[in-house]
Amino acid sequence: MNDVILTTVDLTKRFGGLTAVDKVSIEVIEGEILGILGPNGAGKTTLFNILSGYFGPTEGAFIYKGRDITRLSSEKIASLGIVRTYQIVRLFDKLTVYENLLIPCLSPRMSAKLKDKKSRENYIENLAEEVGISEFLDLHTQGLSHGVRKLVEFGRALANDPDVLLLDEPFSGLNPVEVEPLANVIRNFHKKGNTILIIEHKLREFMKLVERVIAMDRGKIIASGSVKEISENPLVVEAYLGKGASRFVGA
Ligand SMILES: Nc1ncnc2c1ncn2[C@@H]1O[C@H](COP(=O)(O)OP(=O)(O)OP(=O)(O)O)[C@@H](O)[C@H]1O
Ligand SMILES: [Mg+2]
Repeated sequence: MNDVILTTVDLTKRFGGLTAVDKVSIEVIEGEILGILGPNGAGKTTLFNILSGYFGPTEGAFIYKGRDITRLSSEKIASLGIVRTYQIVRLFDKLTVYENLLIPCLSPRMSAKLKDKKSRENYIENLAEEVGISEFLDLHTQGLSHGVRKLVEFGRALANDPDVLLLDEPFSGLNPVEVEPLANVIRNFHKKGNTILIIEHKLREFMKLVERVIAMDRGKIIASGSVKEISENPLVVEAYLGKGASRFVGA
C-alpha cells in the first residue's frame, strides 16, 4: 500500500501576471487521505483544476500510475480513475437525483461495465444506499437541502468508480449534523483502499480524516506533515494570520 499513485512535478499555473500554482511537487501515496490546507487564494482549487484536466498547467507535469497524463482531457482523466467534486456544488437541477447519478454511468468506461438498464439501476440503487440518499432518488436536486446536495455530488463522483477522489471543500456550508454522514461516506470510500485528496477549511473535520497535510500559500507548498505539525508550523500560522486567523483557528 506504499506505492506512489500520483506525482506532480513542478506544476505551475499562471493567469496573466499571477502565479496561482507555483512549482508544486507532491507525491500521493496509494490509499492515503492527503489534506491540502491554505488560506483563500492559495491555489488549492487551481491545483485540482489541473489534476482533473479542467485546464492544463502552464509548466510542469503529473504522473498517474506511472503514466504522464498532464495534457489529457478531463473526460479521459476521469476515465482513468481521477474524479473530483466542486467547491460549489454542481448538479443538474432540472434532473432527479437518480438521473444525476445515471449520467456518469453512461460514460464509455462505465457503460462498458454496466451494459444494460437493469445493471445501471442496481448500481445506482446500491450507490445511493451507500451514500445515504436512497429516499431522494426520484426528487429533483433543486429543492434538496445543501447537506443532501453535497451527498448527491459525492455520490455522482463515486458513480465514476474512481481510484482517486479530489474533494474540494466537501464540508463547506454544512452544519455539524450534516457533516457526519458525509464524513462517514468519505471514510468508507477510503477504507476500501482508495486515495483521497481533500481541501477543507473546516479543521475539526479535516483533522479527524486526514493522515498527512500539505499547506499551500500563494501557489507554493510551504509545509507538509501531520495535522499537528502543520497547525503548529510558524509559516502556516503566519499565512493564515495574514489573511484572517479566524478562518484557521476558528474553523
Ligand atoms: N480561471 C482563473 N482565471 C484567473 N485567475 C484565477 C482563475 N482561477 C483562479 N484564479 C486565481 O488564482 C488564485 C488561486 O485561486 P484558487 O481558487 O486556486 O484558490 P483557493 O486556494 O482554492 O482559494 P479558496 O480557499 O478561496 O477556495 C487566486 O488569486 C484566484 O483569483
Ligand atoms: Mg478553492
